[in-house]
Amino acid sequence: MKLPFVLASRFVAGETLESALPVVDELNAKGLHVALDLLGEHIHDREKAERARDAYIDLVHTMAERPKSHLRNRISIKLSMMGQMIDEDFCLDNLRQLLEVAASKDIFVRLDMEDSDLTQSTLDLFETVYPDYPDHVGPVLQAMLKRTDQDIGRMCELGASVRLCKGAYGEPASVAYQDMDIIRARYIDYMERLLQHTDYSGIATHDDQLINATKAYAAKQGIAPERYEFQMLYGLRPETQEKLAADGYNMMVYVPYGTEWFPYFYRRLRERKENVFFILRNLFRS
Ligand code: FDA
Repeated sequence: MKLPFVLASRFVAGETLESALPVVDELNAKGLHVALDLLGEHIHDREKAERARDAYIDLVHTMAERPKSHLRNRISIKLSMMGQMIDEDFCLDNLRQLLEVAASKDIFVRLDMEDSDLTQSTLDLFETVYPDYPDHVGPVLQAMLKRTDQDIGRMCELGASVRLCKGAYGEPASVAYQDMDIIRARYIDYMERLLQHTDYSGIATHDDQLINATKAYAAKQGIAPERYEFQMLYGLRPETQEKLAADGYNMMVYVPYGTEWFPYFYRRLRERKENVFFILRNLFRS
């Protein structure tokens, strides 16, 4: 049974690129940077993976054709959509084709991080392409994973741009911290190291404790707001997004679109019970 899109429309900009672009315009008009994400994951069929690669390449062209501004619009992708679970070399080839176009158009490509079975492979693929596209590709690291301490160290050595998030996937205690206080403490440690050692990393969270800790650390260390950005998801805390931008911080909004929205939608419901109440309230109102 296919659920109606209206359920997901608080978190997903549209089912087509055409319907997502006005959202990008609106956010840009408010001074917010945007990362567009064509939804989809865990593809096991080569033809589908090639179609996903071509759709990402089309997306890069569309982003590049937008009027130039100071805003850093970009795309965010999932390697499992480009063949990572079929054959890493095939995925690498697809990633290189995408990065070749993205670099030529000066569009940054963020590699979303998926579940922990894919972490090593995602970082290996990232490190393989990074020397050729150092300004146009960067990974996501998840504070909840125990391995992230080492991965942050490696990204700091490389000086790579990282998106730091807590981690959205249900992971076992063998690989991930389960206690939110520990995850927050790890997040703050990683945020400090990224701000110190990388030129422009993304602090992806809606959590005021972490946002305030970032502002305070940057101010204390004399790290200018141009050296990093806050990142939030489309539909979550829009007033806070605008307030951060108005206060002079770089603020990026992750804007997903596409017909394959269910896993993304489910992760949003899973991580915050208020999101479930919001959907239910609107369902009964409409
Ligand atoms: P969390 O949900 O833990 O909430 C903590 C506190 O923040 C709440 O108690 C409340 O005080 C406040 N808060 C949160 N949401 C609020 C709201 N809507 N209104 C008011 N207050 C609110 N994950 C992943 O595994 N791989 C990835 O590639 C990405 N990519 C990504 C990109 C971007 C831009 C973002 C923002 C997030 C991701 N994530 C992700 C998801 C991430 O790992 C995490 O699951 C969510 O951001 C939820 O964690 P938070 O720290 O945002 O707040």
